[in-house]
Amino acid sequence: MTNAPFPQLSTSRLGLRRFRESDAEAFARYRSDPAVARYQSWEAPYPLEEASRFVSAMATQPADVPGEWLQIAVTLEDALIGDCAFVAQAHEPRTAEIGFTIAPEHQGRGYAGEAVTSLLGYLFDQLGKHRVTASCGPRNAPSVKVLESVGMRREGHLVESTWAKGEWTDDLIFAVLGREVS
Ligand SMILES: CC(C)(COP(=O)(O)OP(=O)(O)OC[C@H]1O[C@@H](n2cnc3c(N)ncnc32)[C@H](O)[C@@H]1OP(=O)(O)O)[C@@H](O)C(=O)NCCC(=O)NCCS
Repeated sequence: MTNAPFPQLSTSRLGLRRFRESDAEAFARYRSDPAVARYQSWEAPYPLEEASRFVSAMATQPADVPGEWLQIAVTLEDALIGDCAFVAQAHEPRTAEIGFTIAPEHQGRGYAGEAVTSLLGYLFDQLGKHRVTASCGPRNAPSVKVLESVGMRREGHLVESTWAKGEWTDDLIFAVLGREVS
């Protein structure tokens, strides 16, 4: 565990930075879209009060604490357009899992792949992770495309492995090693 502060990252178009309290409204808005929440752990609508509590917690949450997710703001000209997240695995902190979301009005422009590529660079180059994984449902076609486009390998298909929103759902497992992208 490094307990490191999260640095500001940038891509050609985007910034990745810590959440601020002023992000709460935009965060609640896109999390409240049923299409965005469809394959995710939260329910839409996502209340503003919950968004405020969440972004405040993420503003000071230390990075790279095993078992604790850090959600990171993805910004365009410093305005929140989505987020990505990572957690160092509690059983093996040199491995991490990631997740990502882009607000509907900003989807389809390749922003997710750009943000995830930057996050992978941070995890491998700055935190020295060995392996990064992601999971998503096979029906989540845009997410599968993003994971393939950033060079993550599809390693498995778990059948009815997660109870989500009233049904058993499958999980696709994607992974990449540091030496494969550096
Ligand atoms: C997954 C998500 C982050 C992708 O964000 P994005 O910025 O739109 O991603 P991109 O612009 O890079 O598009 C990804 C690919 O999906 C494709 N795509 C978009 N909508 C699609 C759809 N309904 N069906 C099939 N493919 C689709 C795009 O054409 C693109 O493919 P391409 O690279 O071959 O052109 C966004 O859809 C989202 O936030 N979804 C809800 C949250 C979520 O499910 N997150 C993933 C958790 S694992």
